[in-house]
Amino acid sequence: MTSGTRMFPMSTLPVVFSAFQTRKMDLLSNKWIVNLLVCWLFVGVNSNSVEKKIYVNLNYTVPCVRLLNATHQIGCQSSLSGNVGVLHVLESEENLDWVLRSGPNAPYMVILEYPLFNRSIMMKLKNGAGRVAGVAVVAPNTNPAEGFSPHTRCPNENTGVYSEKYDPTMAHCNVTVWNPLGNGLSYEEFDFPIFSLKDDSDTQVIRQCYLDHNRPVNGSAPRYPLCAMQLYSHMSAVTDTATCMRRNDINYSITPEMVCDPLGDVNIWASSRPMNNTAKGHKKWQSVVIAAAKLDSRSFFFDIAPGADSSVSGFVTLLAAAHALRNATEESHPNRTILYTFFQGETFDYIGSSRMVYDMENNQFAVDLDNVHSVLEIGQVGLRSSPTLWFHSDPVSRRNNSVNEEVKKLIQNLQNATTGLNVSGEEPGFSQPLPPSSFQRFLRARPIPGVVIDDHRSTFTNRFYQSMYDNAESLNISYPPNMTLEEQLEYVTDTAKSLTEVATMVARALYTQAGGAESQLSSITADPKLVTQMLYSFLVRSDNSWIKQLIPSDLVSHLTDRPTNFYVGVFQQPSESSFLVQHLLANLTGSVVNVTQENCKNQRENEDDKDNKHFYFYSWVRGAASPNSTEKDGVCVRSTVRQSKALSPAFDLRQYTSTDYSTWTESRWKSIKGRIFLVASHDLEMLTLGVGVGVLLTSLLLTYFVSSKADILFSSGREPASATY
Ligand SMILES: *[C@@H]1O[C@H](CO)[C@@H](O)[C@H](O)[C@H]1NC(C)=O
Ligand SMILES: *[C@@H]1O[C@H](CO)[C@@H](O)[C@H](O)[C@H]1NC(C)=O
Ligand SMILES: *[C@@H]1O[C@H](CO)[C@@H](O)[C@H](O)[C@H]1NC(C)=O
Ligand SMILES: *[C@@H]1O[C@H](CO)[C@@H](O)[C@H](O)[C@H]1NC(C)=O
Ligand SMILES: *[C@@H]1O[C@H](CO)[C@@H](O)[C@H](O)[C@H]1NC(C)=O
Ligand SMILES: *[C@@H]1O[C@H](CO)[C@@H](O)[C@H](O)[C@H]1NC(C)=O
Ligand SMILES: *[C@@H]1O[C@H](CO)[C@@H](O)[C@H](O)[C@H]1NC(C)=O
Ligand SMILES: *[C@@H]1O[C@H](CO)[C@@H](O)[C@H](O)[C@H]1NC(C)=O
Ligand SMILES: *[C@@H]1O[C@H](CO)[C@@H](O)[C@H](O)[C@H]1NC(C)=O
Repeated sequence: MTSGTRMFPMSTLPVVFSAFQTRKMDLLSNKWIVNLLVCWLFVGVNSNSVEKKIYVNLNYTVPCVRLLNATHQIGCQSSLSGNVGVLHVLESEENLDWVLRSGPNAPYMVILEYPLFNRSIMMKLKNGAGRVAGVAVVAPNTNPAEGFSPHTRCPNENTGVYSEKYDPTMAHCNVTVWNPLGNGLSYEEFDFPIFSLKDDSDTQVIRQCYLDHNRPVNGSAPRYPLCAMQLYSHMSAVTDTATCMRRNDINYSITPEMVCDPLGDVNIWASSRPMNNTAKGHKKWQSVVIAAAKLDSRSFFFDIAPGADSSVSGFVTLLAAAHALRNATEESHPNRTILYTFFQGETFDYIGSSRMVYDMENNQFAVDLDNVHSVLEIGQVGLRSSPTLWFHSDPVSRRNNSVNEEVKKLIQNLQNATTGLNVSGEEPGFSQPLPPSSFQRFLRARPIPGVVIDDHRSTFTNRFYQSMYDNAESLNISYPPNMTLEEQLEYVTDTAKSLTEVATMVARALYTQAGGAESQLSSITADPKLVTQMLYSFLVRSDNSWIKQLIPSDLVSHLTDRPTNFYVGVFQQPSESSFLVQHLLANLTGSVVNVTQENCKNQRENEDDKDNKHFYFYSWVRGAASPNSTEKDGVCVRSTVRQSKALSPAFDLRQYTSTDYSTWTESRWKSIKGRIFLVASHDLEMLTLGVGVGVLLTSLLLTYFVSSKADILFSSGREPASATY
């Protein structure tokens, strides 16, 4: 009763304001306010022009996001409230004129079929001077015939070993341009959002909406209402890494709102012989052969990075080789230890390998560089058309005689290992630098003998390098029709057979390289069924009965019915690919031990055990338990598998403008979404706005009137005006 008199006007105002605030935020998406005002005020606006079905939200939207390095920002973003534009389905390059000049309803949201998603068109749109609100690319259901790579022509050009100082004739891909199809789109900056859409019901709705409302007839402008699309992908970080890290620091002290995160993940590694991993730095009497592959990939869009040839072919081969070597290395310990390493973030200026080398140099790793005998890296090996693989080595370090001798021995070991297999291997036959590879980061530190195995002699065979099409189809992985998922999982494809041969060769070569006896070689063979299961799990679906046995129960929810996304994580959180490879490697190189769940989780074999945790890692996984039984809910796997940091040293050193180490960060964002709707004509919008402003003014006047005459209107229970205001 006391202050109730004032409540009426006070509660009305916020409603009016909130309607206008919404407008301010959703600028141009007037439909919502239009309807609100129409319903609320019963103003006689003709409701035919304001359709009843308001928004259609897009179900599957994959954005391009913003990344920053020491000097640049790349990627895409929308304004805070999302970009809105009138839909225009681009039919050909000539059709661009409508978007960039003649169309009367700019800005446009351009829908591109994949053949038009090329550098020439994208750069014209980029320079479209405010007439382009955004772009949506419709991904095809089959790979383009002609090849496509949004990456650069010379990947990781400035962070490998080939600098001007190392050898000026080999810097900047002077000898071989590795990725001639690269159009560099992934490294451009766009100030509008770009989304990828699947060719499905969403795109059908979009096309229909365009045909019904927007298609210019006989060159004349279409009439309102028009079909529009709104894309949200606002990015918090701007300019470069130094700027956004500085802003992170400021925010950290005031509000916990970060604007960007360093790209980073974990490397996975294991050794053929247990090593004290708590004791870091140099190990006497240890000589290790590093067998390396990379784990990550990327494409133009954020969460599609299938990396079939560029990473999966290599690391699956290495996993199969590690498995083939399990028994041989346990029975007769060769002199040298084989270190299986899987590097993360290599796509972004060698994050993982540069970190491991840095850790080895600073006594933060189980061994140091003096312990490293040689390096064998498995690169892209999925696309050998003939039986030939190519053994690449570094001509500069080979000028040193002792390095050259070791490289020759390694190549000899590889060639001996091909006997009886449908694989052969050759050196490129002319003085050519190494292709982009983690091994380059070791060479940057010192001349270490090593070889990189690839399916290409000079330029990449892979025509889809770092694109969304580097997928199962590009590796020719397909299954006979009418197979169940379980049958597909077990079906040995030709690709799997081919990679099995490569894995056998790698395993045998590693064994001799480690000092194992040649007489053992014929007993070392990789398992085609294992290879096919791995390819299926990474390139078709990770959610399958086999993988489920190999991982802890709490990770099962991370499995998907899609190909694994190999885009590197942030924050050193193991991404899906890291945890899958970690548990696979444990299964393939470790053994099941009879240890209780509690001891297993505490990294010990029994209550008295204090030492084993230095040498082994224990993980409690689901195992092959029958689906019903809830009691036997896992087994303990003991292995030498470890995670190590894959965060660029630049962030520990706070050298955000480093030219030695990767400086890539990823912007944060709040929401990624897209929707389509009809926009009323500009006149109608203006009318609606006018009505809204009228309502606001009326209610302000009313408020003023009511409050100033309150003592007359509500004479009882009144309080002094000053008490309320
Ligand atoms: C940052 O990225 C841009 C775009 O790819 C590139 O041109 C530039 O050289 C990079 N800067 C550094 C320091 O690596
Ligand atoms: C999105 O998914 C929902 C539910 O699955 C469906 O009803 C809707 O039609 C889909 N939207 C489009 C545009 O296909
Ligand atoms: C477009 O032009 C053609 C010939 O100029 C004419 O036959 C047709 O009726 C026109 N269509 C419309 C919708 O005006
Ligand atoms: C392993 O290394 C740690 C740290 O140096 C040491 O405390 C431990 O005793 C070592 N264990 C064995 C069995 O050598
Ligand atoms: C060749 O490399 C070895 C090992 O890295 C080094 O000890 C030696 O001094 C080098 N020889 C020459 C001639 O540079
Ligand atoms: C892919 O498979 C088709 C038919 O199965 C075959 O003709 C083609 O040669 C294969 N391509 C490669 C690169 O293996
Ligand atoms: C690896 O996984 C298989 C099931 O696929 C299981 O039978 C085997 O015991 C596992 N081995 C280890 C060491 O975990
Ligand atoms: C596992 O260990 C427990 C106690 O240490 C023992 O009772 C059991 O028989 C063992 N199981 C196997 C399969 O060895
Ligand atoms: C699992 O449970 C189902 C029904 O709950 C039952 O029919 C089946 O026999 C059980 N299987 C085993 C191996 O216990």
